[in-house]
Amino acid sequence: MAINGNEETARLQEQIELLKQQLAQAQKLTALGELVSTTTHEFNNVLMTIINYAKMGMRHKDTATRDKCLDKIFAAGNRAAKITKTVLGLARNRSGGQEPTDLTELVTCSLLLLEREMNKYRVAVDRIFKPIPEVHIDGNQIQQVLLNLLINARQAMPRGGRISIKLQYDAEVDMVDLVVRDYGCGIPQDKLPRIFDSFYTSKSGPDESGKGGTGLGLSMCRDIIESHHGQIRVNSTPGKGTAFTLKLPTVTRAAKLAKPVAAPIHHLPAVPSGPTVMS
Ligand SMILES: Nc1ncnc2c1ncn2[C@@H]1O[C@H](COP(=O)(O)OP(=O)(O)O)[C@@H](O)[C@H]1O
Ligand SMILES: [Mg+2]
Repeated sequence: MAINGNEETARLQEQIELLKQQLAQAQKLTALGELVSTTTHEFNNVLMTIINYAKMGMRHKDTATRDKCLDKIFAAGNRAAKITKTVLGLARNRSGGQEPTDLTELVTCSLLLLEREMNKYRVAVDRIFKPIPEVHIDGNQIQQVLLNLLINARQAMPRGGRISIKLQYDAEVDMVDLVVRDYGCGIPQDKLPRIFDSFYTSKSGPDESGKGGTGLGLSMCRDIIESHHGQIRVNSTPGKGTAFTLKLPTVTRAAKLAKPVAAPIHHLPAVPSGPTVMS
């Protein structure tokens, strides 16, 4: 009997392991799908600009108009190059690995990828960037987290609005805070504990940009942040808006964490006020 019981437990554990792997794969594919959709749309937009100014330059023979068109084409070409550089940057770091990273630059690149989408949905993005030290992260993964939070924030404001994105150093715990705040629908208190669950979604399916509705975004964010010894917290008021705070270790903190004497992360002081889900 006991042997059968043990065998059954081992079999179930194996199945759980397999399902976990499949879930991780689904999370990755969802994130990749959304990234492809974002960059393709963004790239297409730049191509339209190039084509339209090229047409204009061909129609008008005067030097002034042609110069203007070439300027526009040059600017659009540069923008396209920046977009591909960002995506290639993501691809290069596919092997993973956490390394000293300039988070301000990473956030700036991510915002560049969503520029068109935010304009389309009439969402203005305020940047509040304080000076911060380098963080010890996998830039590829943190960019995915950021894109997820920004898209959720945008979707919480179907009629447009504002998102603010803040970077600051928390000297007390030697971590960098990244706060994504929206002034959208908010999350009812009884739903807050569920938002990080895999497949929990309040959306009926992907929106017309092909994003959201899988309930895999925040579960992926949580897994990534946990693997960074970081924290993800949410603070939300229905009808007023939502703020997600990421706490990421600086290079010096990560070095200390690597030593066995380092203080465990869950001893960090909690963010006061409002319903807060910590992970
Ligand atoms: N900024 C936000 N404002 C309001 N609700 C949010 C926000 N971010 C997440 N949520 C809620 O959490 C749920 C899960 O989010 P997520 O895991 O990204 O899945 P999805 O976006 O596919 O629904 C969303 O369906 C939504 O109900
Ligand atoms: Mg989402």
